[in-house]
Amino acid sequence: MRVIIETDADAAARLAARWIANTVCDKQDAVLGLATGGTPVRCYEYLIQWYREGKLSFAGVRTFNLDEYVGLVPDHPESYHRFMREHLFDHVDLKPENTRVPDGMASDLESACRAYEEAIRGSGGIDLQLLGIGRDGHIAFNEPGSSLASRTRVKHLTEETIRDNARFFGSESQVPRLAVTMGVGTILEARCCLLLATGNHKAEAVAAMAEGPVTASVTASALQFHPQAVVIVDEAAASKLQRGEYYRTVEAAQRQRLPVREF
Ligand code: GLP
Repeated sequence: MRVIIETDADAAARLAARWIANTVCDKQDAVLGLATGGTPVRCYEYLIQWYREGKLSFAGVRTFNLDEYVGLVPDHPESYHRFMREHLFDHVDLKPENTRVPDGMASDLESACRAYEEAIRGSGGIDLQLLGIGRDGHIAFNEPGSSLASRTRVKHLTEETIRDNARFFGSESQVPRLAVTMGVGTILEARCCLLLATGNHKAEAVAAMAEGPVTASVTASALQFHPQAVVIVDEAAASKLQRGEYYRTVEAAQRQRLPVREF
């Protein structure tokens, strides 16, 4: 696991965006796995900016989102379909037919989940999967206790996640209790996993993910098994890491050998 500590949330978002942009420039038909939540918003803003400046095109790119609430129509203000349109899809040259978000309205959710897995496989697999992390260490909606081999399926949200996401809905009672999510096993098949976390409230989850045991209680810890897992954090989210100084030393040396192109 490569842990990169940036000075603040903006620098962390910019580096994550550079990573994504590098992937797209190196492979014009790249398959991106995308995430929602407050954390990736700034990262998407950088991608939109570089697209507008003519530095980047998504014309050949295909995307798969991690998750979606069950029971929200795509136009619902808090659906992840809508989030993606507002924060990325409507502002770049991604072809709408090349963007996929799980269908939380499907009448047969199980077969929709199987079809989503097949679509990912059919695309040749995800080249770069962007991830956030929940305060309890979950990735996508793989709540604590999820199988580390899980595939796309319906999950019950925990009370903590419902409370955390209530800020977007206005009240806890409006947050859907179920979501369709890629499984941990699905996520681990991406060729590269890029997890972005910022803020003090993520510090414990980040430390548990990177330095704790691999456990279904912290589903992000499964990334320790991934050969290409990159974790980009700001100082606040890094504040509970025990090996922070070591990561900084390694990264200073690594950057000279493996520079991430500027945009
Ligand atoms: C939700 C999403 C996750 C996201 C997490 C943290 O649970 N399903 O993909 O990582 O929220 O979101 P935020 O970035 O808003 O803290």
